[in-house]
Amino acid sequence: MQMLKQLEGIRLEALSELNRIDELGELESWRIRYLGKKSRLTQILRSLATLTIKERRLVGSQANEIKISLQTSLVQKKEFLEKTHLASSLEYKRLDVTLPGRPITIGRLHPVTQTVEEICDIFKNMGFQVLEGPEVEWNYYNFEALNIPQDHPARDMFATLWIDPEMDSKARLLRTHTSPMQIRIMEEKRPPIRAIVPGRTYRYEATDATHESMFYQVEGFAVDKGVTLADLKGTLFEFCRRLFGEERKVRFRCDYFPFVEPGVEVAIECSACGGAGCRLCSNTGWIEILGAGMVHPEVLERGGIDPNIHTGFAFGMGVERLPILRYGIDDIRLFYSNDLRFLTQF
Ligand code: FA5
Repeated sequence: MQMLKQLEGIRLEALSELNRIDELGELESWRIRYLGKKSRLTQILRSLATLTIKERRLVGSQANEIKISLQTSLVQKKEFLEKTHLASSLEYKRLDVTLPGRPITIGRLHPVTQTVEEICDIFKNMGFQVLEGPEVEWNYYNFEALNIPQDHPARDMFATLWIDPEMDSKARLLRTHTSPMQIRIMEEKRPPIRAIVPGRTYRYEATDATHESMFYQVEGFAVDKGVTLADLKGTLFEFCRRLFGEERKVRFRCDYFPFVEPGVEVAIECSACGGAGCRLCSNTGWIEILGAGMVHPEVLERGGIDPNIHTGFAFGMGVERLPILRYGIDDIRLFYSNDLRFLTQF
């Protein structure tokens, strides 16, 4: 009978095509073609009603049998392809645990931050506490309370970035040094005081190998009964010894700051030329790292401390100059030019 032959043809064609399939994705179009609603097999099953009872029994059972066997073959083929796909991808994507690992780049602290931390550690070991103050400061704290009134020539030492145009006590500016914290500390604390204040400072000046317009200072401040210049000298020499070692030459000599009396400055032998004189040290052989002195009696009084009972010393050091001297860096501007080749060396 014609229809039975047709069914057998469909079965053979479907199975041989299924045999050739080697991609999971192709199975769905095979299913639609041979088992779908518009497939030849489904159409034969739908036309059974037009046949005689005898033909219907023969064709119907044959067609159903083929349908079930094609469905079974499809399931088996799917399982087979899934297994081989998994096996081959395991083989292909196998992890080679002997390959070298990828390096992870981690951040690091900026050399100036590292230096600030080191300075703080040295002074903490000497019994100083670490305090911080505002970078936007009042004229009063930055200048007036430190014996530098409006027309004082010492204002030329501190080229200032002003925020407010008026020059009264409440005029705001970017602090030119960390010394205003001397007054703020005395307003808060009574002697004995031993504090250091790290922080950013700003000056409106041209940059060169040892000058930046934004740089870090660490202020030191100690007030107690019987504090003398010898205590200041001893503290600063000990600091230099701990930071630079025993061998490095340290120079201690007179200087002038309106808020101390007497005033001194400390310089370290230049690292670039070993003291012979070069561009970095402006041919002097020395690089100044800090200004210091005995706190002026009027400044103590302004902080509410009686200078007849208590005395004190103060110092303000430039932070960037310390790594310059330690590592022989020949330009301060390298710290803030964001060149990783430089920064990652520390
Ligand atoms: C002062 O700023 C005083 N406040 C220091 C002081 C404190 C004196 C307490 C007495 C008592 P001076 O302007 O010299 O002083 O600055 C102090 C240090 O900051 C200098 O020795 C230097 O190391 C650093 N410094 C000053 N100007 C710059 C700059 N433009 N760039 C980088 N570092 C600087």
